[in-house]
Amino acid sequence: MHIYTQTQVTEFCLEGRFLDFVIKDGYKLKALLLWTSEGECYVKLAKHLRSTFDLRLPKGTWLQVVGTKQYDAKKDKLTLKAERVMAAREEMSKQPALKNQNQPKPAKTQTILVCQKSDCMKRGGKAMCHALESELRNNGLEDNVIIKGTGCMKNCKAGPNLVMPDKTRYSKIQAAQVSALIDKHFGAEIQEQSENIAVPRFAKV
Ligand code: FES
Repeated sequence: MHIYTQTQVTEFCLEGRFLDFVIKDGYKLKALLLWTSEGECYVKLAKHLRSTFDLRLPKGTWLQVVGTKQYDAKKDKLTLKAERVMAAREEMSKQPALKNQNQPKPAKTQTILVCQKSDCMKRGGKAMCHALESELRNNGLEDNVIIKGTGCMKNCKAGPNLVMPDKTRYSKIQAAQVSALIDKHFGAEIQEQSENIAVPRFAKV
């Protein structure tokens, strides 16, 4: 007789307000506590997220979390594990403009839509998302450009699929192509960023 493990793993995408971090042994970041429409939610963080998280995240910030949920029927236990955490779009639109005197122009928020469903993820979507995040960060665009996870875009076999802010759709995008894509769509903003952070050559100190 076979013993079936009654564990189901599916994907989830939820939004909620950040309540607190869960830290173990005094320093190891393990999880986030979020307040969602279903109440308080404990979300474990995937290892690659733990080292990159900004612990100064203000409480009450709206977050969008994408990951996998595992239901263990034997223990009747549901475990959520985050693979990606982003500022929720609603929050960005509600937030007053950031007070940053070094930025002469107010930041304009743009959104890149990325399919988070399994066909796209299997075809390299996860690595592509990580590449997108790091390219935006490396170019100083992380506050101006949001990556928003979506449901199936009905183009599964040509995944990973994404839609740029100007509505241009891309299919079969792999991590190695992301840098060129960001240059193509955000070249002007990247140029602007580099001008803003340039140190005057003869500045007095
Ligand atoms: S799974 Fe991504 S388009 Fe269908």
